[in-house]
Amino acid sequence: MSLTTFRTTPAGAAGESGARAGRDAGASFSSTTTSASSSSLPKVTVPSLLEKKLARRPVVAVTAYDYASARLVDEAGLDVVLVGDSLAMVMQGYENTLAVTMDEMLMYTRGVRRAVRRALVVADMPFGSYQAKEEDGVANAVRFVKEAGAEAVKIEGGRERAALVRRIVGAEIPVMGHIGLTPQSVHRMGGYKVQGKSMEAMEELRTDALTLEEAGCFAIVLEGVPRELARVVTEELRIPTIGIGAGPDCDGQILVLHDMMTMTFSEPAKFVRRYADVAGVMRVALGEYKRDVEARTFPADEESYHLTRDTRAQLEVVGRVAG
Ligand code: KIV
Repeated sequence: MSLTTFRTTPAGAAGESGARAGRDAGASFSSTTTSASSSSLPKVTVPSLLEKKLARRPVVAVTAYDYASARLVDEAGLDVVLVGDSLAMVMQGYENTLAVTMDEMLMYTRGVRRAVRRALVVADMPFGSYQAKEEDGVANAVRFVKEAGAEAVKIEGGRERAALVRRIVGAEIPVMGHIGLTPQSVHRMGGYKVQGKSMEAMEELRTDALTLEEAGCFAIVLEGVPRELARVVTEELRIPTIGIGAGPDCDGQILVLHDMMTMTFSEPAKFVRRYADVAGVMRVALGEYKRDVEARTFPADEESYHLTRDTRAQLEVVGRVAG
């Protein structure tokens, strides 16, 4: 189907299939307190995500950058944890994603890896880690797998990345593509602007998606594109599309954890739904803590350690403890 033959019905209706053959149930490390919800579900793998598309079951993805939040994501039973380079903005406070380094991304990915048993851990290749030479891209993708335990990497860009995708996939590392609003191209785009709004631009993105699929990507993030385009691409591809600001017809959705939990400090983009006000909860808690410490009502006696009765008696004898 081409862009000139848009359908008016949504692509992904509910119809669920139970077939999830071939999943790998065995994680290679242990945790004693994983919740029943995630531990009872089979391990998410690249093939199982493809099966989800065939079965029209939505892929649920989110970013996470540290042990605690990744653990909560995994225990909630989400499919994909992306250690996104958005961490440059939401964890490190940069204005855009360009500054974060390979070594920093590896460090965050390791923490996430230690938390996650079931979800697929995807590491975002940071700006500068694959643009200059294909060899760099392959070597850095290998580092994510070998040094941080990532199960796949994500790369921004369209047709121009096809050769690199082939090489990384050839090195046995699954690659997630990312087209549309690609934040690493912020300067070329002149800001974070919705992409693919003209017929020509839509055709370009459609070709990018098909080329990345052909090059071996196992999924493609569609970011900041019109819903109509996302639907066409989703219908045409065999691999899952994962949307962020791309409407409801993608095979899956991804959000930045800090956006959905309100752990950011500016107005969210239109596509963000706030599922919790973590900043609000933290503000109240920190205010109460400050008040309690200043009023000397924290810590209370029950929150303090005590000597045994014998030792206390001995100390009282030498006059070291009053009362
Ligand atoms: O870095 C990131 O968080 C991303 C998602 C927005 C897809 O690339």
